[in-house]
Amino acid sequence: MTDQVTAADSGSTPDIPGKPTSASRTTLSHIMTHADTNLLGTVHGGVIMKLVDDAAGAVAGRHSGGPAVTASMDEMAFLEPVRVGDLVHVKAQVNWTGRTSMEVGVRVMAERWNESAPATQVGSAYLVFAAVDADGKPRVVPPVLPETERDERRCQEAQIRRTHRLARRRAIMELRERRVAEGFDD
Ligand SMILES: CC(C)(COP(=O)(O)OP(=O)(O)OC[C@H]1O[C@@H](n2cnc3c(N)ncnc32)[C@H](O)[C@@H]1OP(=O)(O)O)[C@@H](O)C(=O)NCCC(=O)NCCS
Repeated sequence: MTDQVTAADSGSTPDIPGKPTSASRTTLSHIMTHADTNLLGTVHGGVIMKLVDDAAGAVAGRHSGGPAVTASMDEMAFLEPVRVGDLVHVKAQVNWTGRTSMEVGVRVMAERWNESAPATQVGSAYLVFAAVDADGKPRVVPPVLPETERDERRCQEAQIRRTHRLARRRAIMELRERRVAEGFDD
């Protein structure tokens, strides 16, 4: 696994034409049922995470034009409980692209299935997908082309998260190597 900051960290892949954010933006909607609940009677967080991964995977596949696998999921936030009978909308878009990876931002909204009250945000998450070829090896993705000021802000924020992910991974690897060199065997 690469953990250096590379040219891809600028988000540019000059040899492939870019794709606008709207070309792959997707919403997945699902009505929550009793089969989705936890012991408290509200919807299980894992059910929401599955929908988040599904929506983000569809976006990553559409953007990259082929298969893409979840490499990481971070900052999954559950803001409000989701209840049986809620119509959940999972909105996903590519925020940032590297050489072979994409950050997908997801916003989870819920509304009562039989009321016309506005939907409220109940969760959000950021996932990194790697586009892969038939052998499961990473393949190059088109750069995402932000279309609005909001897309641009999301792209810049994704770049910050990317930098932090790489720095955290590098720091942990360095700590492990240091401990091995010091004779720890854990
Ligand atoms: C994700 C995967 C393809 C990466 O393969 P790899 O041989 O480590 O390849 P690389 O190190 O070149 O990483 C490929 C890209 O993914 C990114 N990436 C890899 N692991 C990552 C992680 N944990 N978090 C964020 N990004 C990650 C790399 O930064 C790189 O991005 P870039 O090309 O845009 O710079 C590989 O680890 C894999 O197949 N994992 C299993 C995925 C899976 O099955 N998911 C479903 C869950 S069951």
